Amino acid sequence: MSEHTIIDGIDYGPLAVLVGTWKGGKGVDIAPEPEGEERSPYYETIVFEAAGDVTNAEKQTLSIVRYHQVVSRKSNDEVFHDQLGYWLWDPADNTLVESFIIPRGVAVVAGGTLAPPEDASQELVLAVAADANSPECGIVQAPFMFKQARTTAFTHSVTVTGDEMRYSQTTHLDIYGKKSYEHTDVNTLQRVS
Ligand code: HEM
Repeated sequence: MSEHTIIDGIDYGPLAVLVGTWKGGKGVDIAPEPEGEERSPYYETIVFEAAGDVTNAEKQTLSIVRYHQVVSRKSNDEVFHDQLGYWLWDPADNTLVESFIIPRGVAVVAGGTLAPPEDASQELVLAVAADANSPECGIVQAPFMFKQARTTAFTHSVTVTGDEMRYSQTTHLDIYGKKSYEHTDVNTLQRVS
């Protein structure tokens, strides 16, 4: 791993590129409605911080990047999504975990394996997935959500090129009688500090 991924003596590997404050105003959210769906242009700020490392069962050591994402609807400037989470990297097997909570009573642990770039010019993509039926990378949700607005699966892909970050994510929902409705979010952000 290059020395550029070391912060305060800890190697953050592929997560080092996340660290900083990012802002982006090209977001589009597609969310379910009882009749059809709603498309909301949005802007957001995501703050990623290097948060040290942790050892599990005396065997696994993970590097930790903590984040807070605050998303506002362009039409009325109201915050309509708030997310707290961690990205974790295990250098032993190059696996990634993104664990996060949203203030609807939903918690997600999504995992993935980092594909090594085939050459230096290839972009680094952080990709993770969770499935409500998985005992490992899964989803836990409050009773109301489980019964009426269930998250069944989640995928998230983040690409960082210099000071530009692009992401796309799909949250599969069982809601309003729809099965596996694709609630999607995409945005492009710039690192501002
Ligand atoms: C940029 C990120 C996101 C934005 C802007 C966003 C926005 C929205 C909006 C506008 C709705 C419709 C709310 C309503 O009709 O009252 C919604 C619903 C929902 N979202 Fe998200 N969302 C985001 C990410 C997520 C993620 C990551 C999850 C979970 C993994 C999630 C889970 C849900 C659920 C379960 C609902 C159904 C609740 C409902 O519509 O009443 N969302 N979201």
